[in-house]
Amino acid sequence: MINIQKAAVIGCGFVGASIAYTLMQKGIFSELVLIDAVMEKAEGEAMDISHGLPFAHAMDIYAGTYADIADASILIITAGANQKEGETRLDLVQKNAGIMRSIIGNIRKTAFDGLLLIVSNPVDILTEVALRESGYPEERVIGSGTVLDTARLKYLISEELEIDSRNVHAFIVGEHGDSELAVWSCANIYGIPVEKFAELRRQKGFSEEMKEIYCSVRDSAYEIIKRKGATYYGIGMAAAKIAEALVRDSHTVAPVSVHLNGEYGLQDLCLSIPTVLGKNGAEQILEINFNEEEKRKLWHSAEELKKILARI
Ligand code: LAC
Repeated sequence: MINIQKAAVIGCGFVGASIAYTLMQKGIFSELVLIDAVMEKAEGEAMDISHGLPFAHAMDIYAGTYADIADASILIITAGANQKEGETRLDLVQKNAGIMRSIIGNIRKTAFDGLLLIVSNPVDILTEVALRESGYPEERVIGSGTVLDTARLKYLISEELEIDSRNVHAFIVGEHGDSELAVWSCANIYGIPVEKFAELRRQKGFSEEMKEIYCSVRDSAYEIIKRKGATYYGIGMAAAKIAEALVRDSHTVAPVSVHLNGEYGLQDLCLSIPTVLGKNGAEQILEINFNEEEKRKLWHSAEELKKILARI
């Protein structure tokens, strides 16, 4: 029996701990299991986060093992090496694909029957590895994809135009990494196309800023890693938001990494595309009418990922 209010985070580094901390504050689960290769690390995080419960609400957060996950509704996997300065996400692939296979092997020994949310990088490749290795139906294996990049895009547009970032609708698709692209043809603020809005707001165009904003989004992780060694708060909030959409069955659209079967003329790989999320996982991958340049960039991103997939 699946306990919809129970989740587990596998991998309790900065990213796993930030996800756990965000989930605790959201109050969507009543039970959260923390699993780490080093039990003491999971124990320490469980203790530290639990001490905030009197300021939030009642739930049970504890360090556990794979024996504790059988009835969880969602497993959030963050385990693996993280990017160091000068490394791309794709540089992590061999090591982290091995770690992912071993984690999926451990999960398969249990009766777990819920959703997998993959966060470890390179996330698109590892989502595909998790899917192949688990044998689960495609809709149950989702990667955090470009949900964070999309938040970065909204934030940077909002800063440029001095507008609440929640009024900004824009998204990033493709690889969560260097070949990702912004779908500017769909970008709008309060329903008004972004370039028109820029003219309204400040009587001038936006095309130069659009290029700069895209590059800042794409390079955000490098810039953060250069300054503080790792990124974790942003991804913590992004992953918790995805988990919330899934568990609350909210039919939220988010650009998660999903397995494609011919959508956009692409197949046999996972990459990020706006997808409707609900209790069954990825309920519908949206085929949006991108312009020709966007389609070409998406195909290029898929090619880059396929080259890596062919090597693992
Ligand atoms: C980042 C990591 C999560 O983009 O890939 O911050």
